[in-house]
Amino acid sequence: MTTEEIFQSEREFQVATYSKLDLAIVRGRGPWVWTSDNDKYLDLYGGHAVCAVGHSHPEVVAAITEQAEKLMFYSNVVYSDIRADAAHKLVSVAPTSLTKVFFCNSGTEANENAMRIARLATGRTKIVSFEKGFHGRTADSISATFLGKYRTLGEPNVPGHVSAEFGDSDAIAAVIDAETAGVLIEPIQSMAGVREATPEYFQQLRKKCDEVGTVLIFDEVQTGVGRAGEWFFAGSKAAGGVVPDIVSLAKSLGSGVPVGACLVTEDLAASIKENDLGTTFGGGMVAMAAAKATLEVIEREGLLENARNIESWVRNVCSRNPMVKAVQGKGCLLGIEVQGGARPLYQKLLDAKIITGLSSDPNVLRLLPPLSVSQSEIEIFAEALNK
Ligand SMILES: Cc1ncc(COP(=O)(O)O)c(C=O)c1O
Repeated sequence: MTTEEIFQSEREFQVATYSKLDLAIVRGRGPWVWTSDNDKYLDLYGGHAVCAVGHSHPEVVAAITEQAEKLMFYSNVVYSDIRADAAHKLVSVAPTSLTKVFFCNSGTEANENAMRIARLATGRTKIVSFEKGFHGRTADSISATFLGKYRTLGEPNVPGHVSAEFGDSDAIAAVIDAETAGVLIEPIQSMAGVREATPEYFQQLRKKCDEVGTVLIFDEVQTGVGRAGEWFFAGSKAAGGVVPDIVSLAKSLGSGVPVGACLVTEDLAASIKENDLGTTFGGGMVAMAAAKATLEVIEREGLLENARNIESWVRNVCSRNPMVKAVQGKGCLLGIEVQGGARPLYQKLLDAKIITGLSSDPNVLRLLPPLSVSQSEIEIFAEALNK
């Protein structure tokens, strides 16, 4: 197929709901992708914050190929060796109080299930989330998404959702009360422009939730699985050491094979009865092979440390550029605040064959690169930025 034929066919047969780059990506390896015209791009957007170990990592490819040849799928109605292994591996890298996992297929589904667990465990219905957080597009998650037009798209919204200002300690006491089932927070608000809160804020949040018996949920669909330079934001220094009761995950976990998950505490897991949660595809064999291999690659290649290095290389590059006003975020979840708006810079970088991301803040350019990017690849970005 020629590039023009690809464009035309997608336009003809797909619902036109995405604003797309004029690129047909057909191949990838590490942080590099190739178009149908064989043009090579540096992908600092990581395939939409998904490809933490780089595109088509050979070990992940081998793991899913081998699994597909043995057994592609059987649901949770049976036990599975690869599901047992993947669950064990994920729990072993999680904060120690998060001892159980429920697998699903996407970030929004992970959040839906996290909120359901909170309601089932407390017998309450109210969910508190935060202005400008993004949690997905299915009914409950979009009702918790107080960002731009998203919530309106989900009308009529699920009742019982209340918002608070993100990062504002005074707002915590005003909205979280004995009727609150769960507090759902995106600990670094990525889509909003990589907005951060202080460690003390997370400590206050934890304290308030404990006081009123509310389930604290971190939406780590973006920050999790190493992206923010630690396995999870939960328990990190940036979180003030706070570990929530549930962590929801997706994006990086399957390296592109859809995998979502809720990590939960022993107590919460004990409150969940048979058939309270479920999904056909969650924990499928190919998905589990992808998740297990992804976690193993992150560990073996030392990608948590490299994600932290990437942050310091990018910060260093930006500190020498007068156009950059600030850099927000952690590890491989970075927002670069630029003078004159992010879109012109985004376009210029694209012209230089570097893919980055925008956000809902017109001044913030987002970088969500694979955790494996090297210093010399960041230098390529630096040169383009300086130009
Ligand atoms: C923080 C956060 N939560 C939830 C979601 C929804 O994930 P998914 O698109 O896999 O449903 C996203 C997607 O961008 C996200 O960034």
